[in-house]
Amino acid sequence: MVTGKPLFSVDQIQKRVRELADRITRDYEGTDLVAVCILSGAFMFFSDLVRNIRIPIKVDFVTCSSYVKTDTTGEVTVHSDIREDIKGKHVLLVEDIADTGITLNFLREHYSQRGPEGIKICTLLDKKARRAVDIPIDYSGFDIPNEYVVGYGLDYSNRFRNLPYISVFKKSV
Ligand code: IMP
Ligand code: MG
Repeated sequence: MVTGKPLFSVDQIQKRVRELADRITRDYEGTDLVAVCILSGAFMFFSDLVRNIRIPIKVDFVTCSSYVKTDTTGEVTVHSDIREDIKGKHVLLVEDIADTGITLNFLREHYSQRGPEGIKICTLLDKKARRAVDIPIDYSGFDIPNEYVVGYGLDYSNRFRNLPYISVFKKSV
């Protein structure tokens, strides 16, 4: 079940997303930026974020999934990759949540082999207690405790993604 009180309300999320977009606008003014949405979880955050970025950017999409076997081992599969040539360009990876860090670490390595000018990471949520791989996070919306959350793109078995707010999810007994 989804617990009653949102962890982050619609208004809190929208305000924070605008703040992140303002920083990204300032930091990337005059550069060639490709913002990469990590599907599926980041789709809602990404669309709100990029519509608040006020410089011309390119957008692209990568679909991947991770299979975490233990707390320290994970395997990431790319099902559908970006189509942009990122050589010499700035890349911003946009993720819903940094959990173990395995997905973001994998994608950073994956794209750094294509000669980009730089790669930065933007995540809406950061669950630091679960980190297994050290990754630099350049833009972070909210730190969250070690709880499973759903809504605003985040799912449990592909459900609850359409909630406009973020809530803690508890398996009912
Ligand atoms: P990683 O462990 O940092 O590689 O995160 C892998 C993926 O797990 C994230 O992109 C999310 O899609 C998913 N994930 C991690 N924690 C949560 C959560 O609390 N709710 C929903 N999805 C999560
Ligand atoms: Mg995800």
